[in-house]
This record gives sequence, C-alpha cells and structure tokens, in this order.
Amino acid sequence: AAAAPAAVNVQAVSAPVSAASKEVTVLFGSQTDNARGLAKKFAKRLEELGFKVVLSAMSDFKPNALKKVENLLILVSTHGEGEPPDNAISFYEFLHSKRAPELTSLRYSVLALGDMSYEFYCKTGKDFDKRLEELGGKRIVSRADCDVDFEEPAAEWMNAVIASLGEGTPAEASVSVSVAALKTEAGSEYTRSNPFYAEVLENLNLNGRGSDRETRHIELSLEGSNLKYEPGDSLGLYPENHPGLVDELIQAAGWKPEEPVTAGKSGELPLREALLRHYEITVLTKPLLEQAAGLAPESGLKELLAPGREQELRAYAEDRDLLDLVQDYGLTGIPAGDFVKILRKLPARLYSISSSPEAYPDEVHITVRAVRYESQGRNRYGVCSVQLAERIQPGDKVPVYIQHNSNFKLPENRETPVIMIGPGTGVAPFRAFLGEREETGAEGKTWLFYGDQHFSTDFLYQVEWQRWLKDGVLTRLDVAFSRDTDKKVYVQHRMLEKARDLYLWLQEGAAVYVCGDEKRMAHDVHTALTTILEQEGGLSSEEAAEYLTLMQQQKRYQRDVY
Ligand code: 2AM
Repeated sequence: AAAAPAAVNVQAVSAPVSAASKEVTVLFGSQTDNARGLAKKFAKRLEELGFKVVLSAMSDFKPNALKKVENLLILVSTHGEGEPPDNAISFYEFLHSKRAPELTSLRYSVLALGDMSYEFYCKTGKDFDKRLEELGGKRIVSRADCDVDFEEPAAEWMNAVIASLGEGTPAEASVSVSVAALKTEAGSEYTRSNPFYAEVLENLNLNGRGSDRETRHIELSLEGSNLKYEPGDSLGLYPENHPGLVDELIQAAGWKPEEPVTAGKSGELPLREALLRHYEITVLTKPLLEQAAGLAPESGLKELLAPGREQELRAYAEDRDLLDLVQDYGLTGIPAGDFVKILRKLPARLYSISSSPEAYPDEVHITVRAVRYESQGRNRYGVCSVQLAERIQPGDKVPVYIQHNSNFKLPENRETPVIMIGPGTGVAPFRAFLGEREETGAEGKTWLFYGDQHFSTDFLYQVEWQRWLKDGVLTRLDVAFSRDTDKKVYVQHRMLEKARDLYLWLQEGAAVYVCGDEKRMAHDVHTALTTILEQEGGLSSEEAAEYLTLMQQQKRYQRDVY
C-alpha cells in the first residue's frame, strides 16, 4: 500500500543515481508473458535511473556470458507441476549442469512468479535462487515469491533491488516502481486488475448428443473496450463459485448468508456475495490449512500438518474443498469474518482464444470444456467452466481481460509452413490461427492434427476445418478419435504414421505448435517428434533433443499447454 502514491513521484526521482553506469542484466523466463512484462518495465525503470541494462529472455542469453555479469536479476515463473517455462529450460538446465561456471563475483536476486494453489509453488524461482548461491553468487536482496496477484510483491522487490544496487541513491528511489505502473497496459484501460465486463453473444455446446463431453463455444463482445489481441493470446475470466456449494458451506459452518464481511478492496459485502464472487473455496492449499488449524486448535487439523505426514496431507487436500474441510474437521462456530481473512482471492481462469480478431472484429471467442467429476461421494464442478456451461446466457456480462502470450505466435514469415497439434480444447488457438491466415491471405502450408473421443459427437468445429481444407487455408488434416476403435489412437500416433512427410515439413522450416494437456499429451507429442527426427533424419537421441531445443530457441516449436 505504501508504494501506491509513488506514481506521482516518478518524475521527481528520475535524476540519475550515484550508481549510474552500473551494469545490470535482467533475465526473464515466461510462459504467459507476466514475467516478461515485469522484466521489461523493470529494465526501463533501471535505465531511467542511469543503470546500463541488458534485458533478455533466458533462451536468447548466451550462458557463457554469465561469467562477466556483475548484477543479475532473474524474473521467472513456474509452470505446471513445478516446471520452468519453455523459454527458461535451456538456461535452467545449463545452470544446473556441471558446465555451470563459478560465480563468486556475481550479485543477484530472483523474483519468482507462481500460483499458490499448486504444490510446487514458485519452484523454478526457488531453484535458480538456490543454485546461484551454490555457484558462489551473493544476494542483492532476498528472493520474492508472488502468487497470482503479483504486482504488489513485485514492486516491493524491485524497489528493494533499486535501493540496494544504488547505495547513496535519493531516499525516494526506494519507492521508485509503483504498483500502478506494473498494472498498466498499453492500449486499453482494462487489465487483470480492472477487467472489462464483456457481453455474452453466444454460448453453444459443440458436442453432439450422447457425448461424454460438454464443450462450450462462447462468443463475447469487446466493443468499447479497446482491448486488442492476436491469435495465440488468452482470455482471462473471473468466475463465480457454484451457488449450491456456497450455500452448503454457509450452512455447514453455521454462518448466516447476509452477515457482512470485509472482502479486500471490495469493502464490506454480505457473506454469500463474498463467497460467490470474491474468495476461492474449491482449493485447499497448505497455507490455508495451516491458518485454519490456527483458527481451530482443537480440530485435529494441526496433527495432519505435522512433519512426516506430507503424503497424507497431499492426499487429503487433493480433490477436496472448503466444505469438506469444514465438515471433516468440524470447523463450525468460527466467525465468518475471521474465516474469510484466511481465504485466497478467487483467481481468474485463462482460456486460449479461439477467434481471429481479423475474422471477428470486436469479438473474442473461447472454447471451454465443462469439468465435472465425482470425488469423496460428492459431485465436483470446475468453477469457471461449469459456470459458463450452466449459468451464463447471451446478454449476461462477464469480467475479462486479455493475457498476451508472445510465446505462441504465428511465424512472422507468412510463407513458413505451420504444423498444429491440438486435441480436444487444445484446438482452440488453431481456429484463431487459420481464421487469421484466411483473412490475411498467408501463403504457407498448414497441417492440423486433431483428436478427441468420438468422431460423431466430439469433432469440434468440424465444419470450419472442412471449409478451410476446401479453400486451401488448411492443407492437411489428420484426426485421431481415441474411442471409435478397439485400439486407442492419439494425435501422436497419427504423427508417427506420417513421419516421413512431417520430417520433410520440418526440413522446409515448418513451425510446430502444440496446445492442450501438458502432462500426458504434450509430453507424448514431444517424444513423437524426437522419434521422427531419429527415424527419418538419422539423428541420435541427443541430436534430436538439440534439434528441438534449437527449434524452441528459434520460436519454431511453441507450446501452450496446461
Ligand atoms: P481418451 O480420452 O480416449 O484417453 C482429447 O481429450 C483427446 O486426447 C481424447 O481423445 C483423449 O483420449 C486424448 N488423449 C488422452 N491421453 C492422451 C495422450 N497421452 N496423448 C494424446 N492424446 C491423449
């Protein structure tokens, strides 16, 4: 909060500091552009203060140059189950290998971005921080770990770094970067912290009758927002919790729906409203369980958190929500006002945009699979996906923002062949890609690999792919319907069947895009690409790995996986 008014001070402190001409290297590793955006703003501010700044994505930085770096600032996010972002992988591996140099004259600090609802929260940042110390580096200031609302801790970290780097700088420099500045985006006033209420124009189920799946095609109006996006970007959407779950929770905890609670910046709200719109109630994080144990010391929760029971704790927290917690540990009688203080703010959900802005000016489309499953004898609902499937109609308005993603972009050269691999809802950005290619008349060949369970009910956007095939916007289409035959067929099987042609496309410089499930699909597709390079190109497994790393560095192999 202390940093807020500093926006006004920027002019006053931009006189060069005494530490001018100090060299600073700012490296970022970013999957969805958050770390990249922060690094760019930070670098700009450091330059204004008179530092000599080298700003680079980790993937573009020659690791051998590290020996000459005096001041290193790392801004990096963590992805999936604790993995580095794609453009951080090679640098991460280099630093953790035997080739890493001694860095005894290095000063450094790390800003780690992450999501506290994941077990390996900020792991990549933590790993860098630890490894640089092992190699002999000295911390400029200690690492900062940021949850999804990252601007405040990020600004604090930046100000601490600036203060520490420029000893003897004017005192004001310690509030040199404002939270407001980090929240600003060029082009539109609407951002993650100030979402636009977009009107729903269309909300359709893409799956046929009898399908196991329900996939919503949702069209939203961006009219009047000034929001701009490109194919490959994502839409952030703030959901509401399921009213049924909220009501059960209120009842189980012995609260009253109308009692007022203070919900952060939204101020005072009736409890039910606050639980619907403001707080996360479907994820049990470790910090939440610890604080709940503090509120209910006799509940037995403390015992579950004891050292040695980590496995059990993990198993308990998985697929359980706040209602389970309240019921299982008898957390009744805790004042609602105290309880909500330990809850995390409901974070936005990100969906790969499935429309081309050229094809649909002033609109944005998303493709959302409703998540429903049973666990512990109770039906569970994906917060956002089921809200969109069941409780949002045309005419309603939903709070959205654009999450740019510079790591998932069509090739600059419009003649470059494009290979797209996107089973299930992973196909979303490729509808945007092809819509864009159609509108702009790009010449390069295109090849889509698509898969889902059944041809007759689950072939998302079938009519559009077929039209694009006919018109030549899509050159080739290979599909894998996994449950139409006795044997499972997945997209990677189709890739292997077409190994020769796929290899020839790669030789012609094709760019490869993979979107969808990370843990299984994207991993198996990576293995298939490796196999194709070995089999068709005669590469060894190391050479194939290097080939793919190089493709990644040249942005010819990009992934949007979740
Ligand atoms: P399944 O449900 O029959 O296992 C979209 O979800 C499609 O991806 C489905 O056909 C699904 O098949 C398939 N799929 C599941 N695991 C996969 C994997 N490891 N690689 C590729 N596709 C996979």
